[in-house]
Amino acid sequence: MSAGTASSSSTVEERYSETFGYSPEAVARAPGRVNLVGEHTDYNQGFVLPAAIDRYIWFAGGRRSDRLVRAHALDLDEHVEFSLDGGVDPVTEQRLWVLYLVGVAHLLEREAGPLTGIDLAFSGNVPREAGLSSSAAVEMGSVALWQRLLGLQCDPVAMARLGQRVENEFLGVPTGIMDQFVSGLGRQAHALLMDCRDLSYRYVPLPKDVNIVVANTGVKRALAKSEYAVRVRQCQEAVAEMRQAGLNATSLRDVTLEQFRSVESGLSELPRRRARHVITENDRVHAAVAALDAGDVELFGELMNDSHTSLRDDYQVSSPELDALTSIAQKQPGVLGARMTGAGFGGCTVNLVRLESTNGLVTALQEDYRQPSGRPAEVYVLNAADGAFAEGTHPAEGVT
Ligand code: GLA
Repeated sequence: MSAGTASSSSTVEERYSETFGYSPEAVARAPGRVNLVGEHTDYNQGFVLPAAIDRYIWFAGGRRSDRLVRAHALDLDEHVEFSLDGGVDPVTEQRLWVLYLVGVAHLLEREAGPLTGIDLAFSGNVPREAGLSSSAAVEMGSVALWQRLLGLQCDPVAMARLGQRVENEFLGVPTGIMDQFVSGLGRQAHALLMDCRDLSYRYVPLPKDVNIVVANTGVKRALAKSEYAVRVRQCQEAVAEMRQAGLNATSLRDVTLEQFRSVESGLSELPRRRARHVITENDRVHAAVAALDAGDVELFGELMNDSHTSLRDDYQVSSPELDALTSIAQKQPGVLGARMTGAGFGGCTVNLVRLESTNGLVTALQEDYRQPSGRPAEVYVLNAADGAFAEGTHPAEGVT
């Protein structure tokens, strides 16, 4: 069995055996993601263009005959047990990783019918709290593990929604569906164009002559949770004000730039800025996909740069550190585009760079930026990867 790079998934399998005293029946993995363009558009029913990345959370698991879940977070060396019939103690509940697992189990049971308990262990190399969706990878990887172990047939889009609902209902953050969708359905060497209203999607091949480079500010996304909810609300306010001005819109997705310009002078300051970002960002996603289809990587890069400016000035979710990393990159030869990625307020930037200029960019980011801790920026050269995957035995294959 191997659900990842051989070493990483086999390490999880070995450590599972050490923890539980028997070998796992199935392994699963799910990737983190980077968003190339289309930021803060998903919860406005708009368009996004993320890619799953070759950084994963790996799981190993085995079935139990009772309703207990025993879970071991290998990287944190923390062990938690909870019953599918409820009852996680309040201290345990404060650990985010436990909430993800509890949320997945409860919602999956509602979706797929009664579950039996499992033992599971997991470990990963998606940087945590860095805006690369390690939480979506935990959600989608554990969904894949449950499905494999219990032989559940579930629609992948429904599973992505389930992951999103874990964030909304169990973590209390009103996030969109982008992260779980691409962690579940991403494809190697492709970005994923998604319509977040009807959840239709298509794979867009990424050019072979560029690299995706991600730079980590080393700043945890401290404000992300509270300010994220504020942005969601401001977008709703913008829609309400535009409706009052006579536009027929149920979300910012419905508003064209031309319509926006016809009413913007009557809008309050912050809703106006937030709306301008979302409306222009949706347009940038379409333009970016057209550029990729036409092989125009320069234009694609310019749209990434424009996206950053809009997120910084209109949506106001960037930070001095994200701006610093972005402008270091934008000055480097061979860099086509650079921007913050994910929710903002810390986390990472994403850069598109010509293959031959990659080393120069990595060196510049490491030399010219210092994390708050004084260390150089962490920089990752990443590939677009396949979404969640599981293998191993399940009852349909005759395991008793
Ligand atoms: C977070 C959320 C996503 C999306 C991005 C911003 O990653 O989980 O749903 O809203 O922020 O684009």
